[in-house]
Amino acid sequence: MDALRTITRDAILDEMRTPEAHQESIELTRIGRAEIEANPDGISISGALLESLNLIGVFTQEKLSDPSSGVFETALGMIEAAAMATMGFVWVNTDDNDRRAQIAAGRAYMRVALQTTADGLAMQPMSQAMQEYPAMKGHYDAVHARLTNGTGERVQMLARLGYAPNVDPAPRWALETRLKTG
Ligand SMILES: Cc1cc2nc3c(=O)[nH]c(=O)nc-3n(C[C@H](O)[C@H](O)[C@H](O)COP(=O)(O)O)c2cc1C
Repeated sequence: MDALRTITRDAILDEMRTPEAHQESIELTRIGRAEIEANPDGISISGALLESLNLIGVFTQEKLSDPSSGVFETALGMIEAAAMATMGFVWVNTDDNDRRAQIAAGRAYMRVALQTTADGLAMQPMSQAMQEYPAMKGHYDAVHARLTNGTGERVQMLARLGYAPNVDPAPRWALETRLKTG
């Protein structure tokens, strides 16, 4: 457990400290109801306090992307605390990494998510160490050394698992807007 807590923590902190990678998340961060409803995907942040701080310019995408800001420092601390408080991990591996394996992994992950929800547990992906850009290489290798048999097996999803307060489902686009017809 401690090794996985540390790997997931270090991976997410390194991602936040890699400006190009962190900026991808910032650009997908929606703060407040109006931004979330305009683009119901990405990382949504709502609630009266943060929306007010957003309106007065204290908590903004710019502040989140500025490593010298107090907001950035606070975010690092919250993320670190979350990773280190993890009481369980669940992961999905595949024997190889072709499209079929990836889709099968997604389906398996959804089944795990549904079952854990039915069992009263909560899951949160910690997917940074699964990514394939240079700053993640050490974490990617560490997670694969620990969770695979080393013969090309691929960790597709790694999530923390535990008891958590209920949250509403994430915002999402209506299904019709995601389907291609004809
Ligand atoms: C492939 C994938 C990777 C994700 N990685 C992370 C992550 O590293 N950290 C995180 O907080 N959320 C991550 N998420 C998003 C959360 O899981 C998101 O809240 C969830 O997909 C929405 O759940 P819901 O449909 O039950 O509301 C990821 C989602 C997917 C599909």
